[in-house]
Amino acid sequence: GKVCLAYSGGLDTSTILKWLLQEGYEVVCFLANVGQEEDWDQVREKANKLGASKMVITDLRREFVEQLCFRAIQCNAIYESRYLLGTSLARPVIARAQMQVAKEEGCQFVSHGCTGKGNDQVRFELAFLTIDPKIKIIAPWRMPEFFERFQGRNDLLDYAAEQGIPVTSTKAKPYSMDDNIAHCSYESGQLEDPSKPPPTDMWTRTDDPMKAPATPQDVTIIFEKGLPVKVISEGKEVTDSLELFIFLNAIGKKHGIGRIDIVENRFVGIKSRGCYDSPAMTILRDAHLDIEGLVMDGKVRSLRDQFVTHSWSEILYNGMYFSPEREFVENSLLFAQRRVNGEVRLRCYRGNCYITGRSSETEKLYSEEESSMDSLVDFSPVDTTGFINIQSIRLKKYGMQKLEEGSGL
Ligand code: ARG
Ligand code: SIN
Repeated sequence: GKVCLAYSGGLDTSTILKWLLQEGYEVVCFLANVGQEEDWDQVREKANKLGASKMVITDLRREFVEQLCFRAIQCNAIYESRYLLGTSLARPVIARAQMQVAKEEGCQFVSHGCTGKGNDQVRFELAFLTIDPKIKIIAPWRMPEFFERFQGRNDLLDYAAEQGIPVTSTKAKPYSMDDNIAHCSYESGQLEDPSKPPPTDMWTRTDDPMKAPATPQDVTIIFEKGLPVKVISEGKEVTDSLELFIFLNAIGKKHGIGRIDIVENRFVGIKSRGCYDSPAMTILRDAHLDIEGLVMDGKVRSLRDQFVTHSWSEILYNGMYFSPEREFVENSLLFAQRRVNGEVRLRCYRGNCYITGRSSETEKLYSEEESSMDSLVDFSPVDTTGFINIQSIRLKKYGMQKLEEGSGL
């Protein structure tokens, strides 16, 4: 049989590659470029050297930013009030591209190096099966013949020595990382004790906010239909979606914006401590939330917060991107974003971005005259007496009950 393996060049997937070859499979390796730091030539060389019949590397950065990261921004997506979903967002584009390679190369099988305890196995495999219900999946970390043989890093290293798998000289980090243009994640290993702070040299996508420049940096972000279409800062103006995302990552990195350290609930039911740095996503989300305040209808916003933000985030976290519920929720999201047009000005400074102003040339829901405490044009204050009287009918009854119970308020 022929397998398309998601190959990173690391020790785990190199072992899986060799093991699949030994089991008699022909292996096509696939690596997605979603904006991670990587020595692409070295990975290609290593796959070929180990016996892959082909190594395919696909640049998915634009589709990742435009189809997933920007959708998350329109949605204000967030998991458990903290996590901006960087890894979850990358999975659908990676899985789709891997399935495309599997199809082009005539593979009956796909394989990956995800562990049996995580979210990623669920995300990849649900995507694979939705895209091609007949695809066969090889998940070595869930197969006893694999995980009983390779019980720890030492077993992997012994096998590497025996099989001539080059192990990169750089000492492996004492935690697991997943890097892409939206974030870098850090989990497990020495991070497993949630009471201990992460090592100070761990973060890769943000500089230390304590050592960030003493001079703030002002940024203007222009939104159309809830999508960032232009970013201006220090005389530089960027309109291309991928470029503006990269530009905001650079600004956010310099000012140390977007670090979190959390304990989250995985879909499989396990609690896990994770650290994430997501500079551009953090700035864009703050700016987007702000422009919505100016231009979005209040009731639509409240319903969207309750039904779209939460659902879309959970759908993505749980690996259900390719699902009817995601399509359903997303249609409603896009409808709610039709008039989210305007610009937000913000100031990046030592770990935060502070909103300093917003405006919209086209959307007129906000009126200075209307909100002014010094004007009564088109507003009749005596009407508000009735508004409060009616609203209080039900609450007065509740207050009476409390009085009767003697339980107070
Ligand atoms: N806990 C995060 C998530 O589930 C990050 C997962 C990181 N994945 C990885 N293979 N290192 O989205
Ligand atoms: C893994 O288990 O492969 C990484 C962590 C996760 O997927 O949640």
